Amino acid sequence: MCGIVGYVGNRAAVPILLQGLKTLEYRGYDSAGLAVIEDEVVKIIRSQGKIAVLEDLVGERLSEATCGIGHTRWATHGRPSDLNSHPHTDCRGEIAMVHNGIIENYLELKEFLSDKGHEFTSETDTEVLPHLVEHYYQDNLLAAVSRAIKDLRGSYATVAVCNKEPNKLVAARKDTPLIIGIGDDEYFFASDITALLEHTRKIIVMDDGEVACLTPEGYQIYRDMQPIKKEITTVTWDAESAKKGGYKHFMLKEIHEQPWALQQTLKGRIADDRSGVRLPEFSLDKIQLQRIEKVTIVACGTSYHAGLIGKYAMEKILRLPVEVDIASEFRYRDPLIDKKTLMLVISQSGETADTLAALREAKRRGAHVVAITNVLGSTISREAHDVIYTWAGPEIAVASTKAYTTQLAALYLLTMYLAEKLGRMKANELQALIEDFYRIPEKIDEIFASCEEQIKNIAEKNLKSDDAFFVGRSMDYAVALEGSLKLKEISYIHAEAYAAGELKHGTLALIVEGVPVLALCTQRALIEKTISNIKEIKARDAHIIGLCYEGMKEVPQVVDDTIFLPDTNDLFAPILAVTPLQLLAYYAACARGCDVDQPRNLAKSVTVE
Ligand code: F6R
Repeated sequence: MCGIVGYVGNRAAVPILLQGLKTLEYRGYDSAGLAVIEDEVVKIIRSQGKIAVLEDLVGERLSEATCGIGHTRWATHGRPSDLNSHPHTDCRGEIAMVHNGIIENYLELKEFLSDKGHEFTSETDTEVLPHLVEHYYQDNLLAAVSRAIKDLRGSYATVAVCNKEPNKLVAARKDTPLIIGIGDDEYFFASDITALLEHTRKIIVMDDGEVACLTPEGYQIYRDMQPIKKEITTVTWDAESAKKGGYKHFMLKEIHEQPWALQQTLKGRIADDRSGVRLPEFSLDKIQLQRIEKVTIVACGTSYHAGLIGKYAMEKILRLPVEVDIASEFRYRDPLIDKKTLMLVISQSGETADTLAALREAKRRGAHVVAITNVLGSTISREAHDVIYTWAGPEIAVASTKAYTTQLAALYLLTMYLAEKLGRMKANELQALIEDFYRIPEKIDEIFASCEEQIKNIAEKNLKSDDAFFVGRSMDYAVALEGSLKLKEISYIHAEAYAAGELKHGTLALIVEGVPVLALCTQRALIEKTISNIKEIKARDAHIIGLCYEGMKEVPQVVDDTIFLPDTNDLFAPILAVTPLQLLAYYAACARGCDVDQPRNLAKSVTVE
């Protein structure tokens, strides 16, 4: 969703702002703009469309400015247009502000400000901000912003500049991420770490209710106008990890990074002799664990699909009931959770508004909350009781790939850790399981070597239709859901996933000659049942692409194309099975000429409910 960059220092601000905005492109946006202070005048350039359009509009201008703010907008209030693009200004054009989030009481504030003579030019909620700051401004931007935010309801990360205080940025945050970057005599604001990596790895994550003021001389963070001290974090990601590294798209790079990313998730967490799993970040001791009566997993989208796999694994091994809920539904069904619930929240970004709200609700009801996330210092990571980081490196493509497989790895690690703690497995069985798990990354490399070309051909030849179906049973069904989401979000092919046995209860009516059906067949105990379902589909002349282990003889006999996976324990098959599905979606999207990394209408970090 929207992205913010701010710079103050001694270098030209515009190239830094534009480069930062480009790094944030992956979050999803429809317009872009910037404001700088030059010759003590606030100068604004903004436009609907891509950053390249903004870049052309800026040209060689504004090269003297050393202080400014930039923004990419993902429309919520008001359609994408030049006028609705940020930055927005006060009546006199002396204060400019950018904003991520939603000001829920903007209509009320607009009425109040209009009565005082303020004039508005956009349809946005954001525009009330500079007018409100103008209303409170008495030669002190910090004081005016600090006062203005007291009137706001909703969520915001916002940064202001004012021509009367030309070398200063003032920002405030509530429920929407904002990070301060610390350089040498230069300081930055950004919505996420990737925008800062070219300049600094030293960051401070702002918390709700804080206001920060940056000048070339230094930074200060305040709460209720009182200066506070905060810890500086040094991030391990480097600038290269946020670049394409020779791949045509970030998504392809990230698919191929999965073996490496999984090794990062496993690193230091598996005993050398594979006898056990170490998770020092999990704080419940054995006695506390024995009091847990159920596990509730909450997440959105792809992370929710990871949660479904977690349910199968945990219920099978731990014999504990596990519920999985979509975060946007969770809060509103008066959930049955209490201090006997272990709550897992899964979020790549660690900022998803619904998941964060679910986490807060669970804490309020006394559950112990463990977050599985990829982003250090993200809001979810800071609010959960415990955090299991996935360490997958930055994920830039909107479609999640390596974040998903590393979430699965974290869930398996947790399952095996709990199995040991709760005495649910014999030591030799656990060791054998961990041994199988440890070999998963190299098996993904085998899939690239043996199947990528075949998958590309299948995608180009067989995914031309406007519909596709994914079927499977048990864990295969959960992987089917993820495969179909990947396909629809980047190729815009209408795709649906079904539990294989469920198809004949309605959806079989849609199976006609040639329609592609992906049939997942990795769960050996259910293979005969799945094959029966495949035959029902084949009898309607669909084109069936089967996924099964090397050496399985029955599946190739009933499908049109077979993608073979390296053999593994069925429990871990989802990590292997999803890889060809990610590649299928990728190559289908490329063949259809889609914008793979930034699919239409979607945003990487969904910070509004
Ligand atoms: C799809 C995708 C989304 C996210 C969802 C949750 O490829 O990436 O469905 O999984 O928006 O995001 P996080 O994991 O950041 O909470």
